[in-house]
Order: sequence, then structure tokens, then C-alpha cells
Amino acid sequence: MRDQHARLRVLFGFQLYLSMLVILPALGLAHSNCVLFNFGDSNSDPGALMTALGLYLGPPSGQQFFHRPTGRFCQNLKMDLLSAYLESSGSDFSHGVNFAVAGASTEVSLYNPFSISTQAGQFGHFQNRTRELRGRGKGSMINEKEFRNAVYSIDIGQNDVNLALVANSRYQVVVNKIPIILERIENSTKALYKLGARKFWIYNTGPLGCLPQTLALRKKNDSELDELGCLALYNNGAKAFNDGLSNLCDKLRTELKEALVVHVDMYAIKYDLFANPGRYGFENPLMACCGNGGPPYNYVDKKTCGEPTATACADPSHSVSWDGVHYTEAANAVIASKIMSGEYSRPSINLKNFCKEVLV
Ligand SMILES: *[C@@H]1O[C@H](CO)[C@@H](O)[C@H](O)[C@H]1NC(C)=O
Ligand SMILES: *[C@@H]1O[C@H](CO)[C@@H](O)[C@H](O)[C@H]1NC(C)=O
Ligand SMILES: *[C@@H]1O[C@H](CO)[C@@H](O)[C@H](O)[C@H]1NC(C)=O
Repeated sequence: MRDQHARLRVLFGFQLYLSMLVILPALGLAHSNCVLFNFGDSNSDPGALMTALGLYLGPPSGQQFFHRPTGRFCQNLKMDLLSAYLESSGSDFSHGVNFAVAGASTEVSLYNPFSISTQAGQFGHFQNRTRELRGRGKGSMINEKEFRNAVYSIDIGQNDVNLALVANSRYQVVVNKIPIILERIENSTKALYKLGARKFWIYNTGPLGCLPQTLALRKKNDSELDELGCLALYNNGAKAFNDGLSNLCDKLRTELKEALVVHVDMYAIKYDLFANPGRYGFENPLMACCGNGGPPYNYVDKKTCGEPTATACADPSHSVSWDGVHYTEAANAVIASKIMSGEYSRPSINLKNFCKEVLV
């Protein structure tokens, strides 16, 4: 705690922190609409990739596949589930938009054009259209005050780190790529700031090396495993990225004078599920619930969840991993409650209170 307060003083300037985060909510802001714009990859995609490409992911994935933490955050915030930006049917954007797309990274690729910068551009488009339509009582009806006080959450980087390691499984190779990955995140964050975003909620990336997919496809030798049985190289790559992201958050706090930047330690939250599965009623955390092949990982390439050859376990509530890459509903519920608690945020604030902050 002492350490955290010391950091707060350094990061926000203690006076500023007090005035913006503690006093303002006391001014009676009960009616403010909590608006959230989310940017990222499959960790927070509510179905955009399937929508964009016109695909359907077969059972047993179906509905369960895209139950993501974001949906739960919204429930916790007493908001409707955020609609995916690319979903044109039945979407309600009055509480914000989810721009996240599965497979997205910081870079536009042949397979996925929805990089973080594309998503920031889509936000610009959305904001313009909202302004055009508002006067006619159409569109999201989000007003300027709501744009200013919205939370802009970003969860990107996992695919960048993973792709770098898949291409060349050497620690130094991914370390060399981290500066450019971070520069793209920095540029997109600054682009959002230019468009008026002020409250940023930035997640670091989880322990890639504990995912059943990573273990099944990338492990060559048991000597590569850490004490939990996770692939050390992939976790170290994620940690190196996370160290850089933490520094980037500090830099953004200095350079973007009006921005409030909250950094959320997703790595710690998710790693705990693998380190202490029993605490949450989980068993065999390194094994996918839905997949093929049985222990230790229940993950076989081309027989993954959604393929006819894959089957789901009887009770997913005892599994951490749903399909080898994504977390189960039960795991996401634990993750969401930890995020909501504020314990993993720096500075320490929970998402609900952060959302309710009203900036002067
Ligand atoms: C939004 O509108 C502004 C002002 O008209 C314009 O400069 C900008 O290019 C537009 N952005 C997008 C993404 O449409
Ligand atoms: C980030 O923005 C700066 C300034 O506009 C630009 O020079 C740089 O090329 C951008 N970096 C990336 C990786 O796009
Ligand atoms: C696994 O790694 C250890 C330590 O690096 C090495 O001694 C051993 O020969 C390796 N085993 C295989 C099957 O490659």
C-alpha cells in the first residue's frame, strides 16, 4: 500500500489525484451515463470478427464463445452489453461501443485489418456520425460531455507478442519488437486523446505461456516449462511487453496533461488462476474444456473447439480455459470481479468509480 501511494504521488501528483478522483464524484453525479469505448482483440471481442467476415462459429462454441469480460463489466456497471461496432443489426450504442476484434494486433495485417489504429479511426468515424445525427434525434445520442467522461479501455498486444514468438522463438527477438508495438499503442492512444478521450483504462497482457494452445503447439521439451507447467519463454515475452506498457502508461501521464491513465495488471489476475486454481473451484487449469486429445492440454491443431471433432467437457465451470485460447465464463467471472475491485489498478480505483468520474 505504501508503495502504491508513493507511486500515486509520482504518477498523478497527489493533489491532482485527490481533486480529480476523490472529490469530484462527491459533487452528486448520480445521473451521469457511464459510457465505455473498448478497443482490443479477442480478449474483449463480443462477436465482431464473426460479424465482419459473415462467419458462424459452430457448436459447442456458439453463444459461449464470445462471453467476454467486457460483457460482465457492463453488467457490473449496470449497463447493457456493449454492442460490437461492426454489428449492424440490433445494436445499441447509447452506452458506448466495443471496437475490439478477435485476432487484432497493433499492426494491420493481411488477415486482420482491425489494428488498434484502425479501431481508433473507427471511433473517430463513430464520433463524427454521432455528432451529425444527434440533432435529428438519431444515432447513439452520446453527447459531448459523455464523450469526454467516457472510459476508453484498451486491451491489445497479446497477438503481437504471440506472433513474434511463433515466428522466431527467441526471447531477444520479441524484446526487439516491443518498442514498435508500444509506439503503435502510444500513437493510437494519442489519436484518441486528440479526439477528446481523457480517461484511459489500459490492460496489460495475460500469461500467454499458460494457454493450452501455446503449450500444445509450442512446447518442445519439458525443460522449457516454469514451475506451474507454463511455457516460460511465452510468459517472459508477455512480461517484457508488460514492463514496457507500464512505462508507456507513465509516459502518457506525463505527456497527455489532461489524461487519467489507469493501468490494470491483467497478467497478475490471470496468472493467479493458474497458480491457485483450487481457490476458485478450478481443476487442471492447463487443459482446455472444449477441444480434443485429452490430457495434458486437450488441444490438437485443426481439431479445436468449433470443429466437429471437438467436444466440450461436462462442466466448464471447473475449467479455466474454454477452447485453449479463451477463458471460460467461470474464469471470466473471477477476472471481471478482480478488475471491478480496483485492487489490480494503478492508481487504485475500480472501473465503476472511474466511469462515474466527471472531469471539469
Ligand atoms: C471527422 O470530422 C472531422 C471534422 O469534419 C474531420 O477532420 C475528420 O477527418 C473526420 N474523421 C473521420 C474518421 O471521419
Ligand atoms: C507514431 O507517430 C509518430 C508521430 O506522428 C510517427 O512519426 C511514427 O511513425 C508513428 N509510429 C508508428 C509505429 O506508426
Ligand atoms: C530437453 O532439454 C534438456 C535441457 O536443455 C536437454 O538436456 C535434453 O536433451 C532435452 N531433451 C530433448 C528430448 O530434446
